[in-house]
Amino acid sequence: MDKLVIQGGYPLEGDIRISGSKNATLPLLAATLLAPGSYRFTNVPSLRDVRTMSHLLRILGAQVTATDHELLMDTTHARYNEAPYELVKTMRASFYVLGPLVARLKEARVSLPGGCAWGPRPVDLHIKGMEALGAKVDLDEGYVVAKADKLKGAAFEFPISSVGATGNLLMAAVLASGTSVLKNCAVEPEITHLAKFLTRMGADIEGIGTRDMVVRGVSELHPVDAEMIPDRIETGTYLCAVGMAGGSVRITHCEPRHAVASIEAARRMGLEVAAGSDFLKVEKGKARLQSVAVTTEPYPGFPTDLQAPFMAMAALADGTSRITETIYRDRFTHVAELMRLGARISMDGETAVIEGRPELKAAPVMSTDLRASVCLVLAGLAAQGTTEVKRIYHLDRGYEKIEEKLSKVGARITREEGEL
Ligand code: EPZ
Repeated sequence: MDKLVIQGGYPLEGDIRISGSKNATLPLLAATLLAPGSYRFTNVPSLRDVRTMSHLLRILGAQVTATDHELLMDTTHARYNEAPYELVKTMRASFYVLGPLVARLKEARVSLPGGCAWGPRPVDLHIKGMEALGAKVDLDEGYVVAKADKLKGAAFEFPISSVGATGNLLMAAVLASGTSVLKNCAVEPEITHLAKFLTRMGADIEGIGTRDMVVRGVSELHPVDAEMIPDRIETGTYLCAVGMAGGSVRITHCEPRHAVASIEAARRMGLEVAAGSDFLKVEKGKARLQSVAVTTEPYPGFPTDLQAPFMAMAALADGTSRITETIYRDRFTHVAELMRLGARISMDGETAVIEGRPELKAAPVMSTDLRASVCLVLAGLAAQGTTEVKRIYHLDRGYEKIEEKLSKVGARITREEGEL
């Protein structure tokens, strides 16, 4: 398995271009199952997870051709309805095909996604939502089997904010007969992007971008093209890269309005961030980062996917930081690895208490999930010596060409064939 080898201590200077959003692309790929025909997606990130979802669509009978940051899809012959365990276990977002498959093919067999590095990630809200729309849902040998001759509009309130369950239910409701009233929906930009895409396909959705949406079912939808929004998590990650390595970087082709919470937290830690319409100018001088207290929340709060990257900065900050995770239990697999680099971290329930140190020292470290991986790469940018981050296939799921983007602005980072 590949590894990244990073020599710490080199400040960053230049432009870093943000790719399209992974978490916007994945639901849109599933949504193409709702209307047979041809689609062209642009500003698509070149990522493992996008390739995985494309592979799933091919298994379901669609044609998917990937060119440079574009996808051409044809779902005319997408008539299979089983998402296999071997594939779903590698990427939870595969579960997004449940709603569209029931809506269009009346039946879906989608493997339960299983857990991930930081614990169980249930799909009970997806199932309850489908049942609310009249689907009969059973579990059969690890597969969710959902059936409905015709989904019926209904009222459903999410007990907690769930990005995936909101996306799935939205994609099912748009072709249901009658009206659905969905309350406490997730309002992440990726969900707004999905709802706007569905509307352009002919869906009738009110309240897009708010927690309460009214969906009037239509009899059919038609294919449309789409451009992916920028990746707000990648944007926040590169904010942290400047915080760790120092220097002055323009983060281009991003959407500052989707990154308000992470920009605000970065400013509190002492980074200078100036926002343009589609870029951020980020500077960090010689002064040490300041400690911070952040709590992860559903959008527009501080994103859980940036909890690990900000912890890398907290490890170097002056003072004691407190980072509280409220979305997932135990999303702290990066803590032990950061401590191998010299970070001083203790756990107080779901709060990591980080006593900032003036420096980190290189060591071989291993990642266990996508955002924990990138946290270790960020720490390597600052650690004294040469840090090796192993098992970076996790990274390749969500960060396009990270070593190229960082090398271009002066980081000393290379990808090497790694041992096991
Ligand atoms: C999406 O995952 C993102 N993935 C995650 O990003 C992100 O961390 C998460 O939203 C939260 O923002 C994609 O968009 C592909 P949820 P999702 O449903 O939809 C619980 C990354 O690194 N829950 O909003 O799976 C769940 O356990 C990934 O890019 C239920 O209890 O997250 C969690 O505690 C990691 N039952 C909370 O809700 C359910 O049926 C929020 O999860 C569904 C979720």
